[in-house]
Order: sequence, then C-alpha cells, then structure tokens
Amino acid sequence: MLAGFLLLAVPWAAFALPSPSIAVKRTHERRSVLPHQWEEHSDAHPDMRVPLRIALTQSNLDVAYDELLKVSDPESPDFANHWTAKQIAQFFAPSKETVDTVIAWLEDEGIDRSRVKQTDSLGWLQVANLSVTEAETLLDTKYRIYKHASGAPHLGCGSYSVPEHVSKHIDFITPTVHFDSPVNAHRQEKRKRDVEPGIAKTIGQPRIGTTPKQGASLSVPNIITELEQCGSQITPICLQSLYKMPFDLQLATSKNSYGIVEYTPQSYLATDLDMFFKQFLAKAVGQRPTLDSIDGGEPQTELEGFGYNGESDLDLQYAMALVYPLNPTLFQAGDIVEGASFNNFLDAIDGTYCTYEGGDDPTQDGVYPDPNGGGYEGTENCGTYAPTYVLSTSYAYNEADLTPFYEQRQCSEYAKLGLQGVTVLYSSGDNGVAGNDGQCLTANGTYSASGTRFNPSFPGTCPYITSVGATQIKPNGTVFEAEEACETVIYSGGGFSNVFPMPSYQASAVNSYFEKYPPPYTAAQYNNSRTVRGFPDISANGANYVIAIDGEFDLVYGTSCSSPTVGSVITLVNDARLAAGKKPVGFLNPTLYANPWMLNDITTGGNQGCGTAGFTSVPGWDPVTGLGTPDYGLLVAKYLTLP
Ligand SMILES: *[C@@H]1O[C@H](CO)[C@@H](O)[C@H](O)[C@H]1NC(C)=O
Ligand SMILES: *[C@@H]1O[C@H](CO)[C@@H](O)[C@H](O)[C@H]1NC(C)=O
Ligand SMILES: *[C@@H]1O[C@H](CO)[C@@H](O)[C@H](O)[C@H]1NC(C)=O
Ligand SMILES: *[C@@H]1O[C@H](CO)[C@@H](O)[C@H](O)[C@H]1NC(C)=O
Repeated sequence: MLAGFLLLAVPWAAFALPSPSIAVKRTHERRSVLPHQWEEHSDAHPDMRVPLRIALTQSNLDVAYDELLKVSDPESPDFANHWTAKQIAQFFAPSKETVDTVIAWLEDEGIDRSRVKQTDSLGWLQVANLSVTEAETLLDTKYRIYKHASGAPHLGCGSYSVPEHVSKHIDFITPTVHFDSPVNAHRQEKRKRDVEPGIAKTIGQPRIGTTPKQGASLSVPNIITELEQCGSQITPICLQSLYKMPFDLQLATSKNSYGIVEYTPQSYLATDLDMFFKQFLAKAVGQRPTLDSIDGGEPQTELEGFGYNGESDLDLQYAMALVYPLNPTLFQAGDIVEGASFNNFLDAIDGTYCTYEGGDDPTQDGVYPDPNGGGYEGTENCGTYAPTYVLSTSYAYNEADLTPFYEQRQCSEYAKLGLQGVTVLYSSGDNGVAGNDGQCLTANGTYSASGTRFNPSFPGTCPYITSVGATQIKPNGTVFEAEEACETVIYSGGGFSNVFPMPSYQASAVNSYFEKYPPPYTAAQYNNSRTVRGFPDISANGANYVIAIDGEFDLVYGTSCSSPTVGSVITLVNDARLAAGKKPVGFLNPTLYANPWMLNDITTGGNQGCGTAGFTSVPGWDPVTGLGTPDYGLLVAKYLTLP
C-alpha cells in the first residue's frame, strides 16, 4: 500500500495544477464612473471591517424563462399550473458544487471555514470580521471611502476580481461597486445620528422622482359628477367606463387577493381614505387595507404632505374603490429611519431570497434589526408573508442606478413570482425617455440633465414584470373614445433596456414596430440593436386623477396612477377565473402579446425627454404605451377560455 501510494504521489507532485490560491483572478464587476452626486473621499483604513457577502449563483436560472412560459403562455397545456414556493426553492437553490467551490476558494485565501456562514437556502455566504486588508487581497482591489453630496459615506471599490473557476458560481459580492441611489432631503432630516464610515446608513430608496405629480386642488362642488367630464377629471367611475370594468360585482372575493406595495416614509392617511370614499363610494367609509408590515413598516403620521402621502393615498384610494368589496393588502415596507428597497420587500415574501442576517446588500438595502438604533429593532421579515395574486408598485429606479448583476438577480426573483402565479406590475416612470428627476445619461454613462442618452427605468426593463405606462383622454374627448399617450404634466416612461435581452414573447411585436415605424434615433440615444427588452407592456390613464390628500381634493398625474388601475382590472379578471374554479392569471406578458386585441391600441402622443421628442405611439406595440390600455370584458373573455 505504501509503495503504491508513493508511486501515485510522485506524478501528482510533478504535474500539480496551480493551486486555486494562485489562480489568475479576473474582473467580476467594474464601475467606470461614479453614480450621480458621489465622489471619492479617502482610502479605507486597513483595519476597518468589511461586511462581506457573496451572492451565489442559483441553479437552473437558464431555464427559468422556459419554465415561466410553460405556465403563462396561452398555448401551453400547463398554463396556470403554478409552482409552490417549496418547488421554487428546491429548483433554484445553488448547487453543492457552487457552495463548495466558493468555500474552498475562501479557505485557500486563508479564511477559516468557521468565519464563513451561509443562509438556510445556501443562497448567500457571509464572511465574519474581515479586514479591509484581507478583503483587498481576496478580491484584488483597493477599498475607498466615497462620499455622497449629502455627506453620507460609502465603503466600496471601483472593481473587484475573483478566480476564473469561481466566477461562474458568484452573482456578485458586496460591499464593492454597488452604490446608494441619491439620498433625498427627507432622509437627511430623519437621520438620527452621524454616520460612521463602513456601513452606509441610508439606503437606495426607490421612491425618488417617481411619486405622482401634484396639480390643481379642487373644492367639492367642482368635482365632476358626469362621465362626459372625465376629460378634465378622472374619478373611479371614469376608469370603470374607460376599461369596461364591473363594479361591486365580484363572485370569488374570499379567494382573491390584491397587494399594493408602499415604501416608508410614504404612507396613507386614514382621514384621506374616508374623505375620498365619502365622495365616491360611501359604503367603503371606514374601510382600511389589510396591513402586512415589513421591517417595521406602518402607516406613519409623523410626517405629512404631498411627498409623504401622495403616492399611498392615490394607490389605495383607487385600488380600494375599483376592486370593492375586495379589500387590498398593503405591503408597507421599511421603518421611518432606514426605509426599505425592493429587495427588502422580496425578502418578506420569499424566505429563500433573504440573506443571512437581513439586508441583501447593506449599501443598497435596508439592514434589520436597524444597526443604528432608533428604528425597527425586530428581525428582518424573511418569508413572513404570502404574495398576493397581483402586486402593484408605483416606485422605480433607473437601470443606471444599479449594477447589471444586482438587477439580474432581482429580475430572476420576479420570474419566481410569476411561476407561482403572481402578476407583478411596476409603473414605467414619469419622465418619458429620461430617468427619475428628468436625468439623462452622457456618453460615458454619468447622469446629467443635459445628457442626450435615454435613461430606462428598472425594474421596468426586467422581462419578468409587466411595465405600465400612462395615457390620457384626448383634449375635449370622452371615455368612449380612444385615449392617447399622456402628455399632461408627465410623459410615459418607455424605451429599451441597456441590460436585458429581448424576451421572445415580445419579439414579433417589437420587430414589427422597428420595421414599420423606425424611431429617428441612433445608438447614441438608446440601444437600437433590436435585440433588447422594450417597455412598457401595457398602459392606463395617468392624468387628472382626483385624490383626497391631506384633507383636500387634488389632481395628480403619473404612471403611479396607471399601475394600480391596471392591477385592479387584473384583480377583477382573477375574480372571474377563481369563480370558474381556475387559477389566477399570473405572469401576463405572453398572453398580452399573443392577444393584443384584448387591449385598446393607443396610436397618438409621445414620451419626450433628453432634449428629444422621445418615441411616438403608433399602431401596435410602441415604447410609450406598450400594447395599449386594458379592456376588462375582452380580457375576461380570453382568460376564461384558458386552462
Ligand atoms: C476580528 O479580527 C481581529 C484581528 O484581525 C481580532 O483581533 C478580533 O478579536 C476579531 N474579532 C472577532 C469578533 O472575532
Ligand atoms: C463624462 O462625460 C461628461 C459630459 O460629457 C463629463 O462632464 C464628465 O467629466 C465625464 N466623466 C467621466 C468620469 O469621464
Ligand atoms: C376644447 O373645447 C374648448 C371649448 O369648447 C375649445 O376652446 C378648444 O379649442 C377645444 N380643444 C380641442 C383640442 O378641440
Ligand atoms: C445593445 O445590446 C446588445 C445586446 O445586449 C449588446 O450586444 C450591445 O453591445 C448593446 N449596444 C450598445 C451600444 O450598448
């Protein structure tokens, strides 16, 4: 035995492969320009601790799209044969090979196994007590402190590297090249104490620039009472007429569900709900949404004003009125100190998405229990709530705010919701082809108000969600005539992704758009390769909504109006299916693109921005209003023929 061992050992020594610790590393992620309002401040102290987290690649993501089509393509025999949460967790969990490879690499780099912890789902690894020096060696990088214009610091680096054989097992590592979105004024006021370098205390909140726009206020006698007047004010009955929705006529209310997602400090005022219902739906006075509180989220009343109540009041007043007597669920995410991100919300409805100790990316997402005190001290909500059948969110980032790896990982999560039969709706943005706050991109990728590159929104460009644009009634028009793209106060967000490829379900519609109505722009404005995801998918009225806000009636504008309206139509379609003993509709897009006749095509108006006229609404799909606005009757007719 001994001789045999030696014989074998010699050639092994002679032909040993390079050990992984000296394996060549290659760049995994790089940021070439700093995000808006950030600048480099200083080198990080070598002894500073880096809260390192490694997002492992999941299994089977390459077939996620095919699996999603099986349950959402109207031609599929498995249509609506949705998966359970457990099936999802098992199917996508990182493989043993992935976990073992990454842990072996860390051990080769001298990081003891006892310092590495992993989530129950094995989705993330976290390294305890890592110094900047250790992290710099591990990732072949240089850590720096960056500062936001507001003073908020951030620990990060410009790029980082991992060995070639490890790279395919890692989505991304934090903190590295991922940054906060710009911090808004409110968050600076609310910060309770000075921030120490190392962990950003303010997070990338998805609300900036996406709240609806406020218009004129109205006195009650001036609120319209006739459908003929819907061109000047939108009230629930105008929408019910435009989209042929039934009202007060539901058959499966006890089986149905509809979720509205809000991010603190946005919150509704109970008095505003009652003021609205008193005017438009008296029997709903006193009704409140069912609260699913995420990470300490609750309807706060400490801060009031349009910026704090406008979005939530709008979303809830319309959703609650349009699906009455079904009572929507309010997912209120984040405490008032830290707030929350889309990932915090996703954690709360999918336990397998959570990180080890809460917070997916401490520089981007809320970390709970709040490490700074003064905020939510409980454990992060992780798989606490079941998703509702429809989820409407009227908040968005720009694609350029986040890194492609981060976006791809979150986008995959929406595919998993679709597999479970959830319809995920996001408003497409209110600045036409420009991003939040009207920001456009320069050729080198920085933000500038004078930039000329279009700035698409995220997750609007994720192919696994349904992106909702805005329309309006034509001047002097009525609810019985075709609408046009919204050009009052706001312009419908739309365009083409710089990250996501074109999904097959929209290929025919988008290619037809390019062939018949080629837009007058070049690769200098947008990715015109005709191979990337176009958005939005659908649209609904987004102008002149009457809402009760802080004790008065105001007009508001935005795709923020459109998303809860489409969500309400789909919730009523689900009612019809549930009453017929069928499953909810789930991911909409394959059925919408295969049956555009279910929608009212919008063919006029545009979405100007970035110093251009933007794109133009034309017959068929367009990057302004998508396939058009919903027709409840036609949607139900089609969806009832499907399994
Ligand atoms: C962290 O590491 C340092 C040395 O790098 C050590 O002195 C310290 O005790 C460690 N802390 C914990 C909590 O393990
Ligand atoms: C990017 O381009 C803008 C405008 O062209 C310029 O002002 C800025 O300095 C550039 N930034 C970098 C990092 O190259
Ligand atoms: C709408 O009606 C008003 C009043 O009748 C009229 O002055 C205006 O020109 C009309 N606008 C359009 C676009 O037809
Ligand atoms: C456009 O997208 C395609 C597909 O993702 C990519 O190959 C190409 O480099 C992009 N073009 C530009 C100018 O970014």
